[in-house]
Amino acid sequence: MDTSSLEAYDVVGIGFGPSNLSLAVALEEGPHQVTSAFFERQPSLGWHRGMLLPSAKMQVSFLKDLATFRNPATRFGFVSYLHDVGRLTRFVNNQDFFSTRREFHDYLEWAESKLTLKADYSCEVTGMSAVPAADGGPARRIRVRMRDGAGGTRTVEALNVVVSTGLVPRMPAGLEAGEHVWHSSGFLHRLREREGRPLRRVAVVGAGQSAAEIVRYLHDHLPEVRVTAIVPSYGYAIADDTPFANQVFDPEAVDRYFDGSQRSKDAIWDYHRNTNYSVVDDEVIRGLYERAYADEFSGAGRLDFRNLARVTEARPAAGGTRITVHSLADDETYGLDVDVLVCATGYAPMDPTAVLGDLDAHCLRDEAGRHRVTRDYRLVTGEGLDAGLYLQGGTEHTHGLASSLLSNIAVRSGDIARSITARLLSGAATKGTDA
Ligand code: FDA
Ligand code: NAP
Repeated sequence: MDTSSLEAYDVVGIGFGPSNLSLAVALEEGPHQVTSAFFERQPSLGWHRGMLLPSAKMQVSFLKDLATFRNPATRFGFVSYLHDVGRLTRFVNNQDFFSTRREFHDYLEWAESKLTLKADYSCEVTGMSAVPAADGGPARRIRVRMRDGAGGTRTVEALNVVVSTGLVPRMPAGLEAGEHVWHSSGFLHRLREREGRPLRRVAVVGAGQSAAEIVRYLHDHLPEVRVTAIVPSYGYAIADDTPFANQVFDPEAVDRYFDGSQRSKDAIWDYHRNTNYSVVDDEVIRGLYERAYADEFSGAGRLDFRNLARVTEARPAAGGTRITVHSLADDETYGLDVDVLVCATGYAPMDPTAVLGDLDAHCLRDEAGRHRVTRDYRLVTGEGLDAGLYLQGGTEHTHGLASSLLSNIAVRSGDIARSITARLLSGAATKGTDA
């Protein structure tokens, strides 16, 4: 390949969700100028669009926006957004720290529109490789390959790459997504695709926030649907967002987690998993219980809760799917015919392995096989590679519970921007003549 005309950047971001949007803001706010490009596979900015349900609320304070915790005087904060769109006073009158997800999405789009940088959409990164250094020393540049929207390929080079490709939807073991079996992440898209065709029996499996919000949405917006909620526990359990527990998402908590022993890391997960996983906001639980009570009282029979139950199989059946439900209460298994099964069964953490491509071989792993990561979110690489490879997400094992969340993105992006800038200024990533 003739590489003389390749585009080259100080920083390339892979994925343009809130994390890398926050990084773009941090880089733009300086103090040093760097050249950067961000590549996103979606055709436009989209933050879990398949779950942008009308009444869904945020699970973090509006002040945990893209920039405020890093720079309270930022012009990219949620307060600046509200002021700009003329809703600041009315938002404050609401006396609510939690905006709707739709409003937060609007804020993300607003912030993007204020950036000088324009992300490249419909560009899916497929792999990376190291550019061999001409002096025989460690490689200092990374080649990033992608598919562009027109079906072509594109390659760029970077001194630093920040991977932020997000959570990966998880289906129950043995089940595959298809026409009648959906993962919650695509819920609204799938519903739109099905418009005009009858939808009467829907099963929703899971006991997390996604499951509860989808059950509520189906009940409130599709009156002809009977919903069967398949809940693995006795009932939806509450997400702990009380103040002492919430400290686990503080920026300082990252240091304590990072510096802690494996025992302390495990203890933090054991004690505080219920701040985020397999749990539901108090308000949503109470609202659903009220609906279930009214449904029973009126005899409507639209809400059917099967607790202590898991879905183990889904097979095609006439016009829908036949699912197998295993009841943990009596260890019995039974079948249920539905038009659609929605698997609100959660997500696996971000895994950078696929986009790292050839570079993965340079990345060192711990004894459990997980990537080694420094405090400034840099992947630890072997002697053959001295470029900056950073992660936003996928660092639950090193940086703790906030790794996949919004709580800490402003401060984390600041940490990464500072680390990259320091490397560029010290010449660490620019020494030598590369081939
Ligand atoms: P995110 O997943 O948002 O973005 C990653 C981006 O990378 C995507 O746009 C994707 O298309 C792109 N991408 C992936 N692979 C690519 C490739 N190979 N090439 C190019 N682009 C690629 N957390 C919280 O703190 N508060 C909250 O209120 C919520 N709410 C919430 C709602 C729902 C429905 C879900 C599923 C999750 C949340 N979360 C949350 C957690 C969630 O992880 C978090 O809000 C952000 O999405 C994290 O932002 P990221 O940018 O890291 O990932
Ligand atoms: P989640 O919290 O991981 O919950 C997944 C649920 O699926 C768990 O209850 C799990 O039970 C269950 N499950 C998995 N396999 C199953 C099976 N075969 N049968 C029955 N149940 C099964 O996932 P989520 O609800 O999608 O939430 C993911 C993240 O997104 C969280 O951070 C959440 O806060 C966030 N979120 C936010 C909003 C919002 O901001 N409004 C909305 C939705 C989601 P076990 O634990 O027993 O396996």
